[in-house]
Amino acid sequence: MLTLGVNIDHIATIRQARRTVEPDPVAAAVLAELAGADGITVHLREDRRHIQDRDVHLLRQTVRSHLNLEMAAIDEMVNIALEVKPDYVTLVPEKREEVTTEGGLNIVAQSDRIGEIVDKLQSAGIPVSLFIDADEAQIAESVKVQAKFIELHTGQYAEAKNEANRQKELTILAKGCAQAIEAGLRVNAGHGLTYWNVYPVACIPGMEELNIGHTIISRAALVGIERAVREMKQAMQGK
Ligand code: PXP
Repeated sequence: MLTLGVNIDHIATIRQARRTVEPDPVAAAVLAELAGADGITVHLREDRRHIQDRDVHLLRQTVRSHLNLEMAAIDEMVNIALEVKPDYVTLVPEKREEVTTEGGLNIVAQSDRIGEIVDKLQSAGIPVSLFIDADEAQIAESVKVQAKFIELHTGQYAEAKNEANRQKELTILAKGCAQAIEAGLRVNAGHGLTYWNVYPVACIPGMEELNIGHTIISRAALVGIERAVREMKQAMQGK
């Protein structure tokens, strides 16, 4: 059955805007799980712009579904993952100047290094997923480095400007998914998925988990604002 990994990075983005204690991603994870999230995903970035080390450690202790730690393929993060032991790690490319993850990892160009990291983490019992474009060569190389999962980058599908391009990108994703499964990989997908574009991706045969963040946190802010304002009016009356 297709599962949902809820990415709660942007709860931490709001907290870090004030460098305060609210909203707490740990509380958000509990509520997301109560609502049916099958997994919790966080990206501990090198610049710590949203999720902090403290969050990852606490989430490891509190998440009851599964914890997916997204991280760059660097020694610092590998050491943190070995200590925290998330249920799986997703290796992603990371640039300091980017607003969010841009493009998939180039496994072909750094096969030896990625292979070493996959081996180190998987030998410690942490399955690894590689965030890649649905490209034949990248999928083949992901098989070679023996990753358990790939996560197909859905950004180009999400950003398609018209229906013809969207269909073209969907076909590329479905073909990549089939190629990966045929080669023994397990397949997740994510990035840029919204309430409006998720369904066709959810229908791709064999897809296991969708990791979705921004659209859910955006929606949460809007559906929650009326209650939040009402509660402040009551607080102003000492209620
Ligand atoms: N998957 C990966 C690998 C990501 O880097 C991100 C963004 O952090 C997501 C999924 C979620 O993307 P979005 O926030 O656009 O739903």
